[in-house]
Amino acid sequence: MKKVLIPTKLDRVAAELLAANGGYEVIQDAKTPLPELVAAHPDTHALIVRSEKIQAETIDALPQLKVIVRAGAGYDTIDIRHARVKGVNVMNTPGANSNGVAEEVIALILADARHIIRADRSTREGKWEKKQLMGRELTGKTVGIVGLGHIGRLVAKHLKGFDNRILGYDPLIASDRVRDMGIEPATLEEIFSRADFITLHVPLMDSTRGLVNEALISQMKNGATLINCARYGIIDEDAFRKFKAEKNLRYLNDVYPKDAEGDKPNADIADIMMPHLGANTFEANFNAARMAAEELIDLDVKGDLACIVNRDIPAGLERSYSELAYTLANLVRQISGPLPIKLLETSFYGDLKPFQKWLLVSILAGIWHDFDPYNDVKAGMKLLEENGIRYIDRDVSDQKGYGNSITLDITVELPDKSMKLYSVRGTVTEGIQTVSRIDEFDRLYFEPKGVTLFCLYNDRPGVIATIARRLADAGINIEDMRNPHNVKTHRSLAILRLNIAPSANLVADIKDAVKADSVISTFV
Ligand code: NAD
Ligand code: MLT
Repeated sequence: MKKVLIPTKLDRVAAELLAANGGYEVIQDAKTPLPELVAAHPDTHALIVRSEKIQAETIDALPQLKVIVRAGAGYDTIDIRHARVKGVNVMNTPGANSNGVAEEVIALILADARHIIRADRSTREGKWEKKQLMGRELTGKTVGIVGLGHIGRLVAKHLKGFDNRILGYDPLIASDRVRDMGIEPATLEEIFSRADFITLHVPLMDSTRGLVNEALISQMKNGATLINCARYGIIDEDAFRKFKAEKNLRYLNDVYPKDAEGDKPNADIADIMMPHLGANTFEANFNAARMAAEELIDLDVKGDLACIVNRDIPAGLERSYSELAYTLANLVRQISGPLPIKLLETSFYGDLKPFQKWLLVSILAGIWHDFDPYNDVKAGMKLLEENGIRYIDRDVSDQKGYGNSITLDITVELPDKSMKLYSVRGTVTEGIQTVSRIDEFDRLYFEPKGVTLFCLYNDRPGVIATIARRLADAGINIEDMRNPHNVKTHRSLAILRLNIAPSANLVADIKDAVKADSVISTFV
């Protein structure tokens, strides 16, 4: 059992998912101070945290720690470099809590523009300050978004109904992609000089510390509003202080040097101050907790490295492709059976090429379930070498039009010492894993999901009817089916997704009745 420590008030769904998986012992305790908890559980395998600071001492005190999952977006609270030195992977949950923040931005803009807080207070006091509380409308104004990641692009989406002109800046996103989001690409200078509302959605890093500097603030329009629901430190607040009164600037703020009670350094310049509430919604807490647990399980089981933020993984590795690599490997191995593998060949098409070595980890985890995904690719290559397996990553051309796909071939040695090749190819379509080829059967396009029966047979009339009858007699329903035929070999492949797993006896019976190579596979 792997021990997971959750020293925070995270939604219980994380602990429930991990417990349901069966491989984890979960300790969730938001009351005991972190150093005490850590001392009591030195055998911790994974930490799941929210905004708790995880520094070198905590990492050093947990010698078996393999992973820290930040149930949230920003991981500036974790010493990711020290974690790397100690071989600890740090993951975040990208996008899980974005909607909470995006909605907070709109709430802040409207609350400030319509004086909601002041109006409530004054009306309760018995006053009638209609004249003093003349507001401004958001509709039709220019909004500038700095950082067009998960949150920035959601803010743009939610603003659609307000008919805003939306300017956006993100050096890592191509202008065409920005336009596709309904956002006009702009420089920082253009945003600060043209926008009525400017909202920041960048991480705090060396390159973004003090990003909003005096030169930019000095260009802001009179009466413009700056919103910071990202991180403290991105704005040079002393510079903002200089221009605040002169330009009648508004400042709506959610972030501070630390999340704690006490005086706040920007209280004099902020018009609305929130105690870091952006992601503080039930929905965001639930989504981040669920994603944190799923990521941990997927890393442990499937070698899914896509959410690791402290390894030199190039940006853009998507979880769905790590999962696909694992699924294809699992599938090809189930079809081949446990015969010794002599050759492993991979082809990564389209945008997947840069991720070859990272996806290989998932492939190895899919073939050898005891392969430790915390091992790096070098350990994977060593495993192949020790087992006498040659590995070839083919240099492929994209002219075949396979899009972003993976082909995985294994050559196994049969008992008579001859070799047999098993081959699968798959892709992700509309977010769904899709197996497009198994051996000579192309254009399959089936979703590897649930219990699936594969039968490879010499084609003749009545085979499907025989299989269907056997299944029906056992009360098993066919939920989906592919049945391609190869005109050259006269072979057919039946792929049947079933509502219930058939017994081993029933699979053997079907195999015997239709003289097929049959295998049952359960995909998760
Ligand atoms: P994200 O990683 O999806 O997006 C960040 C974007 O910033 C990326 O597209 C990146 O290319 C861009 N970027 C990096 N450097 C930039 C620069 N110099 N100028 C412009 N763009 C730059 O992250 P996200 O989920 O959108 O979250 C953004 C940040 O918001 C997080 O890092 C976190 O610090 C903060 N956050 C705050 C709350 C809250 O409760 N207030 C909640 C979630 C996230
Ligand atoms: C985040 O980065 O996810 C947010 O700031 C949420 C938080 O820290 O509570």
